[in-house]
Amino acid sequence: MRFVCVAAARPNFMKIKPVLDALEARGAETVLVHTGQHYDPGMSDIFFEELGIRRPDISLGIGSGTHAEQTGRVMTAFEPVLRDLAADAVVVVGDVNSTLACTLVAAKSAPPIPVAHVEAGLRSRDWTMPEEVNRVVTDRLSRWLLVPSPDGVENLLAEGAERDRIHLVGNVMVDTLLANLDRARARPTLEDHGVESGAYGLVTLHRPATVDDPSVLRPILSALADVADRLPLVFPVHPRTRASLAGAAHLGIRLVDPLGYLDFVALQAGARVVLTDSGGVQEETTILGVPCLTLRDNTERPITITEGTNQLVGRDPAAIRRAVAEVLASPPAKRHPALWDGHAGARIADALLA
Ligand code: UD1
Ligand code: UDP
Repeated sequence: MRFVCVAAARPNFMKIKPVLDALEARGAETVLVHTGQHYDPGMSDIFFEELGIRRPDISLGIGSGTHAEQTGRVMTAFEPVLRDLAADAVVVVGDVNSTLACTLVAAKSAPPIPVAHVEAGLRSRDWTMPEEVNRVVTDRLSRWLLVPSPDGVENLLAEGAERDRIHLVGNVMVDTLLANLDRARARPTLEDHGVESGAYGLVTLHRPATVDDPSVLRPILSALADVADRLPLVFPVHPRTRASLAGAAHLGIRLVDPLGYLDFVALQAGARVVLTDSGGVQEETTILGVPCLTLRDNTERPITITEGTNQLVGRDPAAIRRAVAEVLASPPAKRHPALWDGHAGARIADALLA
């Protein structure tokens, strides 16, 4: 069996690694395609180095653009590659534009090539999120729906997906987190950033709904500046957010470049609280037992609230200040969603090869 495995952007690399390993351990052939949606060394290369992912077999180098440009460029570049590869299946992860683009190409190949979607079934029910469109269309077209949590199974069944396409396999992000946690904790990351374990907050923001409109971002930053008066805040800044933060240095928040996986995990593990709009960070904080305040009105990962440490706070500055005060006074208990156990990659490979 030959599986074409697609990775494209920062949150894809830690998801594809356990799937590649598990497929290869079972004797399947894998071809790793990097679309190049993320391309800065700190958004791409560093994850290959730190996680021990081999160099991509094929790099499409498509780069940034509008949604149509980016999706179209991936499709145009992926189509001839896939035609030549004689693939038995295409494996896509997550919900980025490249996930959707490669799914469309595989589904419209002649004959169609079946798609396996890792992280299927997640729904925010917010159609203004580009990722929600990507998730729903990718799932509709995928032969294997590899779902991290029971809410995803319910979502897919409610949309009419056939039961035999749905496999509850657990969370591949957690496979990579557990495999690298000791290595991350052993690093001098906290010292390098001048913070002490349990005595700082960690911030990430990159959703268009949070960072693209200054009238939304400015009040969030003012709430963060108030928090930073009491608790040092470290904020690794996503490239999308960089321009919007020009002039924010005076707020007393420690702005740093995007971090490699190990340093970022080390900072998550040691944080008193994490404030974020990231999807993956909601999941990792749940496993680490670190309180997570999600600065969004919805989440496609509700299990991190019902069975984790996450709380939806929204973007109102007063609500952010209040939530930080509450969570510092009374942190949530550590909990652990079922199947978030480090073996999701193995279950995925077993489902694909069955
Ligand atoms: C993308 C995904 C989002 C995911 C995020 C993870 C889509 C629609 N969005 O958002 O779901 O949560 O990645 O980080 O697929 N840029 C660089 N260097 C890079 C990559 C991007 O400077 O290596 C800058 C460019 O100015 C680019 C902007 O960031 O225009 C946005 O990049 P893009 O990949 O379009 O979307 P993200 O916001 O990164
Ligand atoms: N991450 C990282 N360095 C950073 C910020 C995040 O390594 O500076 C990791 C984080 O640990 C998680 C993933 O990137 O594994 C989440 O990616 P991101 O927030 O960009 O995307 P999302 O999950 O929101 O799609």
